[in-house]
Amino acid sequence: MAAMLDLDAEVLHTYLSEVTSWVADLADGMTVRRILDLGSGTGKGTFALLPHFKDAEAIAVDSSPHMLRHLRDKARERGVTDRVRTVEADLDAAWPDFGEVDLVWASASLHHMADPDRALRDMFAALRPGGLLAVIELEGVPRFLPDDLGVGRPGLEARCQAAMAHQRAETMPHMGADWGPRLADAGFVIEGERPFTVELTSPFPEPARRYAQMVLRRTRTGLDGRLSADDLSVLDALIDDDGPQSVLRRNDLTMRAERMVWMGRRPEGRGAGE
Ligand SMILES: C[S@@+](CC[C@H](N)C(=O)[O-])C[C@H]1O[C@@H](n2cnc3c(N)ncnc32)[C@H](O)[C@@H]1O
Repeated sequence: MAAMLDLDAEVLHTYLSEVTSWVADLADGMTVRRILDLGSGTGKGTFALLPHFKDAEAIAVDSSPHMLRHLRDKARERGVTDRVRTVEADLDAAWPDFGEVDLVWASASLHHMADPDRALRDMFAALRPGGLLAVIELEGVPRFLPDDLGVGRPGLEARCQAAMAHQRAETMPHMGADWGPRLADAGFVIEGERPFTVELTSPFPEPARRYAQMVLRRTRTGLDGRLSADDLSVLDALIDDDGPQSVLRRNDLTMRAERMVWMGRRPEGRGAGE
């Protein structure tokens, strides 16, 4: 998962820099000293935000010590250890005191929470009045494959996506939620809401091939028993390191990844829960 999050940051870097520039525009004139990256994973948000806010430290919060170890290694490589703090915490439990926070970033993490509305209220309480919240949600899993793979199983990726959507509805029901009204319910004023789409075509970059392989490998693992044996065997050939069907060497890949972003602000002069 950590390797996939790093590749995600590399392959989707244009979208990430657009979103962080949008955050910086909204924060224009604000003093930003403390950023909270909630469900930080390997720190995609932390490392993309820090260059915009030269006086800020980032607190990366995650329940996974493995993710946080990886994030600390990256902070060392980038020479920003003095600006990055990691906190291992389960955000479904009572939150640690993070001190006064100017900016909260929650990318692809809110849908992991058992009670995301409670988490949004906690974000509101953690932010100082006037502080900003950026929420990023995945609109499904990126798509890479043509409908006809030339191996006799047309529509394979569509079937995978449908089976995964079905599975997610059972295991992660908040994924793909419309967070705007829920930000408003938690007390935030919505500053903006925008979809972002990243599309790649030929020549397909090498990191995007490895990203496709990782995404499809996770798909394969998750869909055991939910797809026909024929579909699974085509998937196996696609995710293989070698072989003519491998996504590492096919010349018919494209990529379409979609994200939705909401920006909220805690109004000046309002306490939490008022
Ligand atoms: C899909 S990853 C997103 C990582 C990162 N924000 C990004 O955009 O690349 C979700 C992260 O949320 C973390 N997470 C899930 N449930 C959590 C919880 N209850 N408390 C804290 N972190 C959690 C996971 O460990 C994982 O690193």
